[in-house]
Amino acid sequence: MTSLRSSKSKPFIGEISISGDKSMSHRALMLGSVSIGKTKISGLLESDDVLATANALGQMGINVTKNNNGFWEVDGRGVGGLIKPKNVLDLGNSGTAARLLIGLVGSHQFDSMITGDESLISRPMDRIITPLSQMGMNFNSAKNKLPLSVRGPSTLIPIKYKLPVPSAQVKSAILLAGLNAPGQTIIIEPEPTRNHTEIMLREFGANISTKVLGNGVRQITLFGQPELKSKYVEIPGDISSAAFLLVAAIITPGSCLTLERVGLNPLRTGLIKTLKEMGAKITIKNLKTVGGEKVGDIVVKSGPLSGVTIPRKRAPSMIDEYPILSIAAANAFGTTKMRGLAELRVKESDRIKVMAEGLKKCGIQIDQSEDSLVVHGKGESPRGGTQVKTDHDHRIAMSFLILGMNSRQPIAIDDSRFINTSFPNFTKLMNSLGANINVF
Ligand code: S3P
Repeated sequence: MTSLRSSKSKPFIGEISISGDKSMSHRALMLGSVSIGKTKISGLLESDDVLATANALGQMGINVTKNNNGFWEVDGRGVGGLIKPKNVLDLGNSGTAARLLIGLVGSHQFDSMITGDESLISRPMDRIITPLSQMGMNFNSAKNKLPLSVRGPSTLIPIKYKLPVPSAQVKSAILLAGLNAPGQTIIIEPEPTRNHTEIMLREFGANISTKVLGNGVRQITLFGQPELKSKYVEIPGDISSAAFLLVAAIITPGSCLTLERVGLNPLRTGLIKTLKEMGAKITIKNLKTVGGEKVGDIVVKSGPLSGVTIPRKRAPSMIDEYPILSIAAANAFGTTKMRGLAELRVKESDRIKVMAEGLKKCGIQIDQSEDSLVVHGKGESPRGGTQVKTDHDHRIAMSFLILGMNSRQPIAIDDSRFINTSFPNFTKLMNSLGANINVF
């Protein structure tokens, strides 16, 4: 366990690129594995979570390699072409790897065992076990959690399923299973969630469509057993990683930073909208579409923020950004109300509880309930001067290091290991730009 401590930063100035989008990186590897031919990927995020997916696919007969030019290559075996893994598939800390791969692997008629680290084995899996069982998969698990075993039937049943929780992981698990089912797999999504799986499936040649019904409800239809064709996939920077730099620049006086080629899928950009409502100076340049995904440069300048109330229905489009948003809120003037956050209780940690505890320790006044967090900012640098617990959670760890950059006294985190799950060069990059993060 390495503790890190963050103290006052110099202004963040420059033009940088952010490492690749985690959600898209998992999906590019997985779709590459079930397409025909060699998929080439640029910008793959080389983090612990994504490497866990690459290793798992390697165990199922897929050749995943990095070539001399820095591109990753996946030799696909076509839909239904994975082979029985020799060992238990250990997906470490990654909920996305676990849930998506269970959908994919469980569509094959062999037994697989899936497990993860202390955090992942405590996270709910019933949300995928229920629909995937309806498709004919056979699960064995204690309390609907990892470790579990799964075996697919000889023929999967395509289902129509209404998502009971807004979760792109659940939607994607069903779609990946649906690839190997005859007929139409249909998902009804009452609250839209990130649609990288749908976009990438279409890019790989699947017949998939999304219809917007009344009230913004979406119906996604996938025709099963397509022949997916290998692709060149260009992965943009991760908006969820960019989020930490955005807030660092906003709260550090004198900053002006450009983040180049960041993924700006509208179902991921709730944080940008919210920060702008708080008064942040953010502009988007060079917006274009690459591989079906919006990509652009984000220019951010430091400046004061005011508290806001964030509508519940925005939550899915910024679900991973509430920890860093609460750091922005702690530096803002006035109260920021974040509601509709029940899903944060079952992330890598219970993010409402862990953020609330850490913020209080740093001298920030907060209120919390089962599904909300309210932060009372005073429009001045928070006190800091403490060490906070991160509970196996990369986003909590990075958030408190950012808070330390503008607090009156330094802030330490107990454990920095999990930063590697999503943003391996975080500390080095931040320090190269003017941050002051040291081993403690
Ligand atoms: C993800 C979906 C979200 C998000 C996670 C990545 C994905 O999880 O929090 O970090 O890549 O599909 P849920 O599906 O649990 O909302």
